[in-house]
Amino acid sequence: MDADFIELDGVEKVFDVRRRAGFLRRERHQVRAVDGISFRVPRGEMVGYIGPNGAGKSTTIKMLTGILTPSGGRLRVAGIDPSRERTRLAHRIGVVFGQRTTLWWDLPLKDSYRLMHRMYRIPDSRFRENLDRCVELLDLAELLDVPVRQLSLGQRMRGDIAAALLHDPEVLYLDEPTIGLDVVSKAKVRRFLRDLNAERATTVLLTTHDLTDIEQLCKRVMVIDHGRLMYDGALAGLHEVGESERTLVVDLERELPPIEPSPEFAVRVVKVAGPRQWLAFPASASAAPLVARIAADYPLVDLSVREPDIEAVIARMYETGAAAPGIGGTDVGAAPGSRSGG
Ligand SMILES: Nc1ncnc2c1ncn2[C@@H]1O[C@H](COP(=O)(O)OP(=O)(O)OP(=O)(O)O)[C@@H](O)[C@H]1O
Ligand SMILES: [Mg+2]
Repeated sequence: MDADFIELDGVEKVFDVRRRAGFLRRERHQVRAVDGISFRVPRGEMVGYIGPNGAGKSTTIKMLTGILTPSGGRLRVAGIDPSRERTRLAHRIGVVFGQRTTLWWDLPLKDSYRLMHRMYRIPDSRFRENLDRCVELLDLAELLDVPVRQLSLGQRMRGDIAAALLHDPEVLYLDEPTIGLDVVSKAKVRRFLRDLNAERATTVLLTTHDLTDIEQLCKRVMVIDHGRLMYDGALAGLHEVGESERTLVVDLERELPPIEPSPEFAVRVVKVAGPRQWLAFPASASAAPLVARIAADYPLVDLSVREPDIEAVIARMYETGAAAPGIGGTDVGAAPGSRSGG
């Protein structure tokens, strides 16, 4: 049961939509938002769930919470069928939708938390303890008396993450929890999630467009496109099958000819603008040795590493023929030993 904590077998979601097809006439058609997805997530694992816009990620998460009922297939979370026992499941899961809040818009943050305290019948001591922890680690102390509508996006998001955790959920679904956050807030949220997973063994399913989230948090990543699972394995393996590249952005003291590190680094300069240079290198390689070499040989002022964007990685998967739509839960490509559980 712990190995199959989250279980999907051939899960489908088809939406019936009507669209205008002329003056007064409307045409019905179907959108297969999720088109036969199968996977398992063992208890305590932190898994990335990524894909381009409209891929079916949020629809999957809505089915996992019971908000939406699947059109086909079988789905269980902690042995519970979400859409049939939504309330029972609600006590065991936490959800954060980055795009919209679960907090009460006009109430101060702390009043929302009080309402959750009662709704979920959280024991007082537990509630205190969890709230204190979230307030401290997510920097919420100054915000507790502020009405939610006055919070900035990043503040609201941290408030939402706390709200999702007050009742000690065993599973946390995060649908773009870092969207719109600045670098400092992102780092804070990531550290918080990493600790949560390590200390409480909370199972986490994380949807994001920021591959750095995945890189820092998830050993395993699933890629979904057009409602189908395209890849399930380690992030490094995804970069290998997609042959994707990261970019090292280097600021030198002055304008210099393109950097030429030794050939073992498989690096090429893709752009030079004044003292700034952009170097592309395979995403599956570590940046550390390359950075060390450049720092030793060049007058370095600053540098940063840019992750490839998900759309580019997926596009490369199609180009290289590595993509295998509809694999339904099997590993694609090179990622041996990357899946835990079983
Ligand atoms: N309630 C709905 N009615 C009709 N179609 C819908 C509904 N919800 C989602 N869809 C469609 O289902 C598909 C998948 O949508 P979904 O929101 O799951 O994508 P996503 O992977 O979360 O994308 P994004 O990265 O943009 O958040 C899209 O084509 C979307 O238009
Ligand atoms: Mg979405």
